[in-house]
Amino acid sequence: MKRAILLAPCVPVLVLAALVVLVPAYSQDKPAQREPDVIYVPTPQEVVDKMFELADVRPGEIVYDLGCGDGRIPVTAAKKFGSRAWGFDINPVRVRESLENVKKNRVENLVTIKQQDIFELDLSKADVVTLYLLPRLNVKLIPQLDKLKPGCRIVSHDFNMEGVRPKREINFRPSDGSREHRVYLWVTPLEKESPGR
Ligand SMILES: C[S@@+](CC[C@H](N)C(=O)[O-])C[C@H]1O[C@@H](n2cnc3c(N)ncnc32)[C@H](O)[C@@H]1O
Repeated sequence: MKRAILLAPCVPVLVLAALVVLVPAYSQDKPAQREPDVIYVPTPQEVVDKMFELADVRPGEIVYDLGCGDGRIPVTAAKKFGSRAWGFDINPVRVRESLENVKKNRVENLVTIKQQDIFELDLSKADVVTLYLLPRLNVKLIPQLDKLKPGCRIVSHDFNMEGVRPKREINFRPSDGSREHRVYLWVTPLEKESPGR
C-alpha cells in the first residue's frame, strides 16, 4: 500500500515516457497532394547494404531516406546500426507500406515515416541522406543538401548529381547475378565542379 502511494506521482511520467518510446513511427495520414516526381522502384537489399557501407554509417547516426518507398532503407538503418531513421514519401500507399514494414521489423522506437514532399524538407538533423530518385531530382535537391552540416554523407543509388563532384563512385553487382548498380557518395560541404553554382 505504502509503495503504491509512493509510486502514484510517477505514473504520468511513466505514461509519457512510454508514449515517447512507442510513438515515432507515425505519419500524417493525408490524401496524395500531387503526383510523385519518380515512380517507385525498390533498391535491392544488397545494394542498400552497400550504400550504408559506402556512407560509413556509425551507430546512433541519423539517416534520412528521401522517397522511402516501402521503408527498407530506414528499417535497415535502425536494425543494422541502431540509427534513428526518417523515411519521407509523397505517396500515401508507400507511406502505408513503410509503416507496415517498420511494424513487422519492430523498429517503431527508431524509425519515423512521414508523408511529405522531399523538396520541402529541412535536412539539418541528418548525418546520412540516401537517394534513389533521378539525376534531375538530385540536382534539384542541391540547395537543401548545401545546408547539411559538414561531414554528412549523401549516397545515391544509380544516379549522379550533375555539377557536384562525388567523393567515390562504385559499381556493384548483387549475388543473384542481376544487373550492375552504381552507387555515388558525396561528403558535405559539397564540392562544386564550377564554383558559385
Ligand atoms: C525509386 S523509389 C525509391 C524507394 C526507396 N528509397 C528505395 O531505394 O528502395 C522513389 C520513391 O520516391 C517517392 N517520391 C517521388 N517524388 C517524391 C517527392 N517529391 N517527395 C517525396 N517522395 C517522392 C516515390 O513515391 C517513390 O516511392
